[in-house]
Amino acid sequence: MPVPLLDLKLQYATIRDEVLRVTSEVYDSQYFILGKRVDDFERDFAAYCHSRYAVGVSSGTDALLIALMVLSVGPGDEVIVPAYSFFATAGVVDRLGAIPVFADVALDDYNIDPAKIEALITPATKAIMPVHLYGQCAAMDEINRIAAKHKLPVIEDAAQAVGAEYDGRRAGVLGTMAAFSFFPSKNLGAFGDAGAVTCEDEATYERLIDFRVHGMRPKYYHRYVGGNFRIDALQAAILHVKLAHLDSWAEGRRRNAAAYAELFADTALGDRVILPRELPRRRHVYNQYVIRFTDGGDTRDRVMSHLKSVAIGCDIYYPLTLPQQECFKDNLSAGGQFPSSDLAAAQTLAIPVFPELTKDQMAEVVREIGKALN
Ligand SMILES: Cc1ncc(COP(=O)(O)O)c(C=O)c1O
Repeated sequence: MPVPLLDLKLQYATIRDEVLRVTSEVYDSQYFILGKRVDDFERDFAAYCHSRYAVGVSSGTDALLIALMVLSVGPGDEVIVPAYSFFATAGVVDRLGAIPVFADVALDDYNIDPAKIEALITPATKAIMPVHLYGQCAAMDEINRIAAKHKLPVIEDAAQAVGAEYDGRRAGVLGTMAAFSFFPSKNLGAFGDAGAVTCEDEATYERLIDFRVHGMRPKYYHRYVGGNFRIDALQAAILHVKLAHLDSWAEGRRRNAAAYAELFADTALGDRVILPRELPRRRHVYNQYVIRFTDGGDTRDRVMSHLKSVAIGCDIYYPLTLPQQECFKDNLSAGGQFPSSDLAAAQTLAIPVFPELTKDQMAEVVREIGKALN
């Protein structure tokens, strides 16, 4: 039985009529840039995140970039980021001429280890940027405590974490600003690239609005150098349709995670396979379901080859840590030790968890993993 890592067509089939209706309304209006569709989506997305403001932007990468620009991060500044994340987390820092300073992650949740942060703070530090990796919030109390002590802003990289919660508060209100990605494979996925930034502070919101259109206010008068970071009205219209379904999709992912826990418990694999663990006070939304093989050697790669040979989708997020990336070979902090990040990169594998997955498919995935490990 083939099992894809993600099957977006199944989800689309359930919302096709609604999507075709709103997209055809946008076509008929011939109104494509910002406007009511974007305003409506931003209002409801902010509410979904428990946040006061949301600003739709062109991608999750641009959401991170514009957040740093709003904070005036520039050449020589340092931003503390986890050593293990998608590239954009560190890439946006470097693009502004600033220096990503890498902190190791904790293996409990693959998020930045708060105990590693304070030693990295210098007079040049401008922000701390935790990532809520795979859909589970980082240790925000500890991070915010350190940030407050050093008067530093916190940017949540919430690209994978729409709807994730920490103490009942959602990703999006746990720092100074939060960046979301609506890349199609994300829990809330556009039909192309899109993203958003949330914030609580009105002045920050106003700056985000200005930086999204070349730092312009009023028209053709530029106070800052921003960029074209606009979200398309078409994407906003589609995302607005999808937002109404997001809670039920998140519940589907959570249900599947619970089913995997039962299925793995029935095997004799024990600690040879470490499952994702929802930490206390968190609501995990399982943008990915990432397991770790502790046998060492090339176990993870052998399991992956076996799953692929039986048409079970799986993928490695991410094969290298950020400090191991060639483009960061001259980064001073990349010379440090990141043992947990190294293990995460060497031992983890994402398996299917999308909401429409069936119990039989999950049982098949677990069975084939067991065979690969025997
Ligand atoms: C942790 C993280 N940060 C940033 C991004 C960048 O988002 P996008 O692909 O929408 O630019 C992603 C998405 O891939 C991500 O997973």
